Parts: sequence; structure tokens; C-alpha cells
Amino acid sequence: MTPNDLIHQTAEIIASSRHVVALTGAGMSVESGIPPFRGKGGLWEKFDPMEVAHIQSFMRNPERVWRLLISEMKDILTEARPNPAHYGLARLESLGKLKTVITQNVDGLHQLAGSRDVIEFHGNFAWLWCLDCGDRARTVDIDVNPGRLPPRCGCGGIYRPDCVFFGESIPMQALDRSQMAASSCDLMLVIGTSAVVQPAAFMPLIARQSGAVVIEINPEPTPLTGTTSKLLVQGKAGSAVQQITDEVERIMAARRQP
Ligand code: OAD
Repeated sequence: MTPNDLIHQTAEIIASSRHVVALTGAGMSVESGIPPFRGKGGLWEKFDPMEVAHIQSFMRNPERVWRLLISEMKDILTEARPNPAHYGLARLESLGKLKTVITQNVDGLHQLAGSRDVIEFHGNFAWLWCLDCGDRARTVDIDVNPGRLPPRCGCGGIYRPDCVFFGESIPMQALDRSQMAASSCDLMLVIGTSAVVQPAAFMPLIARQSGAVVIEINPEPTPLTGTTSKLLVQGKAGSAVQQITDEVERIMAARRQP
């Protein structure tokens, strides 16, 4: 099958679906200038995740984790803007097809592009909270000058990002809602995730076991490919989602013709 056939087939399946859910990962935001975690140019090539992204490393040495990882992420995420893949999913929602986005990303770009029902599986980097008093602060308002790390709340406590570190549980509501979304969809689009981190990677299996079709959009195959997913649209999210959405609009308009 040519790439165009795959785009067309995916669009046909979306146009015939009633309840589409998307699961997105870091690859969704690569074209917004945010590096992925795994693979070429990924963050985990530079850092050992157990040293910079595990809750125990943060609690042992918050200054180090802020300095190595979080300050750099703050600069990158503040600059990032949605790309055509984020806008494409927002358009699919407006067309009444896509009901929910489950994202592992903490960049808030789906909401910025206009998606309204977004489950933030791993939290959101836009907010921090104080380990002592629980006060919440916006990340953009915090000074990440290397001499002043880790940032502290007025009470003297250390701020941490409102993101899920390795070793922490997924927020209960996000997990419950995701499982519900996965089990009630008739199509799950799995976009830009290596599908190796649990429990997020389990959502496509729940969808499949509940009778949904699973389609991946990714330049590379994943452990889901050829087992859980029916199709792999092999390519970058930006152009693939944009082309698929254009095609869905065309098919839906043609079906409305008398
Ligand atoms: P990964 O970095 O593991 O995987 C990124 C995926 O995106 C890979 O499968 C790439 O092939 C694909 N990719 C790269 N460029 C792309 C593009 N332009 N368009 C589409 N896909 C592209 O990211 P995640 O699967 O999101 O968790 O990682 C899952 C979790 O592991 C993250 O949420 C994070 C991380 O450790 C925590 O920090 C708790």
C-alpha cells in the first residue's frame, strides 16, 4: 500500500467512526521543536531518566534535577507552539469525530490548538506546586537563574513541576477517564508514541480488546505495530494528520451531497 492509500484508508475509517480517541506522545510535538525522549536526538540519549526523571532523584537532589532538566525544558516549552498535527486533531474534534485526546505530553499544545477534551496522563509542565504547603505557581513566572535553584515558594518549600515523575502514580482521575475513553471508542489513533511506557501504552490494548480499530501514525514501527494496530501510517505527525484531516473533511462533505 502506498503512503497515499494509507492516508485515504485512515480517513475513510475516521469518517465512518462514531467515537474516535487519540493517544499522543512526544513525537506529536517534535515538529513544535520539543525533543522526544527515546531515539535519535532524544532526551534520554543525553540523560539517564532514572537520574533526572525519577521522583527519588528529585527528592534527593532537587537542585540538580532543576538545573539539568527542568530549566532547559522550561525554555523549550515556553517557546513551543502547536504544529499542524495538533491543529488537525482539533479540527477532527470540531467535525464531531474525535471525542478525547489522551496525551502523555506535558506541553499543553493540544489545548492551545483548540482541543477541548484533553486528558493529561503525565500532568502539565505549566504548573508547579510547593512540596511543603501545596501552593501552586505558574512555571513561566518562576526564576530559573542557575544561582537560585531550586525555586522556592514564599513558605520556603521547594517547587516541583505538576508532572508525573518515574516512580509516581498516574493521577487517579486521568487514569480512570483514559481507561473509560479507551474502552468506549470505536477507533483509537496512536500518534508519536514509542508505546513502551506503562500504563499509557496499555490504552491501545484496552481499545483493541474492546473492539476498536487501532491506527498508528509514527515514522517508526512500535511494539503495537502488526499486533494491536491495524495500520501504521509511516510518517511525521504534522503532514500525516493534516492530510488525513483534509481527506476526512472531503469524504464527509461528499457524503452530505444529495
Ligand atoms: P518517546 O520519546 O518514547 O517516543 C517518541 C515517538 O515519536 C517514537 O516512536 C518516534 O518514532 C516518534 N516520532 C518522532 N518524531 C515524530 C514525528 N515527527 N511525528 C510522529 N512521531 C514521531 O515518547 P513517548 O512515547 O511519549 O514519561 O514517551 C512516553 C513517556 O516516556 C513520556 O511521557 C515520558 C517518557 O519518559 C515520563 O516522563 C513519566
